[in-house]
Amino acid sequence: MTMLVTNIGELVTWDADRPILHDAAFIVEGGHVAWFGHRRDAPAADTMRDVGGAAVIPGFVDSHTHLVFAGDRSAEFEARMTGAAYAAGGIRTTVAATRAAPDEQLAANVARHLAEMRAQGTTTAEIKSGYGLTVLDEARSLAIAREFTDETTFLGAHVVPEGSDIATYVDLVTGPMLEKCAPYARWIDVFCEDGAFGADEARTVLEAGIAAGLLPRIHANQLGPGPGVQLAVELGAAAADHCTYLSAADVDALAGSDTVAGLLPGVEFSTRQPYPDARRLLDAGVTVSLATDCNPGSSYTSSMPFCIAVAVRDMGMSPREALWSATKGGAVSLRRDDVGHLAVGAKADHAVLNAPSFVHLAYRPGVPLVAAVG
Ligand code: NIG
Ligand code: FE
Repeated sequence: MTMLVTNIGELVTWDADRPILHDAAFIVEGGHVAWFGHRRDAPAADTMRDVGGAAVIPGFVDSHTHLVFAGDRSAEFEARMTGAAYAAGGIRTTVAATRAAPDEQLAANVARHLAEMRAQGTTTAEIKSGYGLTVLDEARSLAIAREFTDETTFLGAHVVPEGSDIATYVDLVTGPMLEKCAPYARWIDVFCEDGAFGADEARTVLEAGIAAGLLPRIHANQLGPGPGVQLAVELGAAAADHCTYLSAADVDALAGSDTVAGLLPGVEFSTRQPYPDARRLLDAGVTVSLATDCNPGSSYTSSMPFCIAVAVRDMGMSPREALWSATKGGAVSLRRDDVGHLAVGAKADHAVLNAPSFVHLAYRPGVPLVAAVG
């Protein structure tokens, strides 16, 4: 079966030769793009869909989320908006609620948030554990996440849980917890930050994960300058996410590496911190991704269009750069070449916009522009 999607006013493919086309069409076969080009050149297909001149973009690749959680932290947000500072310790509130929730409730929460994401154009999402912090609760968090995505990340090293000390907890994370969690995870992550894990502990966690066959990514330089980015580059991590406080040496290290700088503007929006300087990273030649970091504490948005709008308005990205980072950039961050673009051979995951151009994603902030997702 082939399907022709046609009468596309603007088609973003990120193909090397024809990244953006007008008056375009593409053909889907077996869930993959079999052809794209000018609509008058389209070959015949079994079925046809006319999108009436709309823009079509690759589905968003949200490379950083924490969807396995229960509970609500709106009171913390309200306090921040009246002057309180964000602190990593708030994570423990969600840990208590998550531990108390039955599997079915956690799975229903993941499903609900993924449905929200899909309605806003996201077709691939990474999901982390990190609100369980016991062997059992981390393993069940990952088992639940695995029901929804292959891009699962073991974040047992999110914070040190109440009642434990850091050395004992790192032993647990790198020992019995890793053993039970690794079968459900593709990635290993650590929150490298004051109030969470320092450089030595972060290295220990990532190296143990790598030894267990997981691929490293890291929460780095979110709340202040720190060693996370350098560690990510040294260990060949796929991503250093947050990158809010970077030294010149951090930017140079990222530019000379394959590590993607993952920017998460929902965090700075929701914590009233300064936004990361995307322009500085892009000008240095760093590969940048955009993601929601959807979690109940620091960034409770599921909207990639929101992140694009903020990145364009306040982080120095052009609309085109922001869309690339939210699609192809996310795919590079997850080391995936089958998603985040619509060149021939890619998965045909796409979003049809209620707009003639992808620029509207930033030009019309807060407007539900995704008409359909396929
Ligand atoms: O990515 N940085 C650490 N983890 C989350 C925050 C989680 C929370 O506050 O619950 C983040 O921002
Ligand atoms: Fe995060």
